[in-house]
Amino acid sequence: MAIKRLALSTGGGDAPGLNAVIRAAVRAALNRGWECVGIRDGFNGLMFPERYPDGGVFPLTSTTIRGITHLGGTILGTTNKGNPMKFPTQRADGTWYEKNRIEEVVELFKKRSIDALISIGGDGSLTIANALFQKGMRVVGVPKTIDNDLDKTVITFGFDTAVSFATECIDRLHSTAESHQRAMVVEVMGRYAGWIALNAGVSGTADAILIPEIPFDINKVAEKIKSRDAAGRMFSIVVVAEGAKPKGGTFAVKEKELGRADRLGGAGEMVAKDIQALTGKETRTVVLGHLLRGGSPTTFDRLIALRFGAAAVRALEEGQSGIMVALDPPTVRYVPLEQATNRMKAVPLDCDTILTARDLGISFGD
Ligand code: F6P
Repeated sequence: MAIKRLALSTGGGDAPGLNAVIRAAVRAALNRGWECVGIRDGFNGLMFPERYPDGGVFPLTSTTIRGITHLGGTILGTTNKGNPMKFPTQRADGTWYEKNRIEEVVELFKKRSIDALISIGGDGSLTIANALFQKGMRVVGVPKTIDNDLDKTVITFGFDTAVSFATECIDRLHSTAESHQRAMVVEVMGRYAGWIALNAGVSGTADAILIPEIPFDINKVAEKIKSRDAAGRMFSIVVVAEGAKPKGGTFAVKEKELGRADRLGGAGEMVAKDIQALTGKETRTVVLGHLLRGGSPTTFDRLIALRFGAAAVRALEEGQSGIMVALDPPTVRYVPLEQATNRMKAVPLDCDTILTARDLGISFGD
């Protein structure tokens, strides 16, 4: 059956490049004569139309998508609390549980005569996309996350922008760290994967990089800092992934909430306190946090976002469904959503960036 009406949704944390995907997908779809609509805030626009002045689902026309390629954020809005498969619901006895409302969502798509969906998001959104596909919908996923932790694609858009900005921040910290002879701890996002910390840390010539994949011994980090001091390098930069954890310890969780992933945070502060105690050096912490998700996408992110958006429409036109577009240089290919969401893509311990870091004398605290 030919597609008449295509919906687009962006879910999870935003990432630079979302608008570029939207523009390319809508442009390509309009060229094929398909009507396009945007769902506000993940699937919330569909599930709670009463919350929105425009009914939560709005037309995406050539005017709506004009001039948005370079803009950060998403014109559709997003949420990481709107997972219809884990919907916080209260029981009669007052206790809460996560309810799966996926069937309801399928019905809502039907009611709006939507024939196909392009779901742009991370592991959460792509798992929902796969569930919708299993229930008979035509769905193509587009991988997004600054964390780069999605399997089956070499890279996700948003990652390059985050790494570029983090590297610039680390560069800037060198002079102030040196002037004050301090240890500077820089905490970066990335959830349970260390991609941002590793790539920015190596590019910004950090002295130690702590990532979730390599549980650290803080004494080893302190030794590295002391050895630099002994060599007359009186300052040090330590990059800490928010998901870094000490050997035998666990992640620093800031907040737990039903219906969403745990919020990480605090790893940098913890590491800084220990470094100060063990080395006697004045230590400061900088948490880059959401700054990594803001601003315009780099050229690299813009281009893969545009390529992903257009490829998603080509896939739907070819009759494909239940797949995700993926970067497999030099091409964009399609992989089953099932495979893409099976496991998280962690940093392989033997990857050449880790080996390079070790050759450069960067400590992983191991
Ligand atoms: O997945 C993207 C991400 O930015 C993670 O790196 C981070 O842990 C999380 O989202 C933060 O989420 P929130 O926007 O809810 O603070």
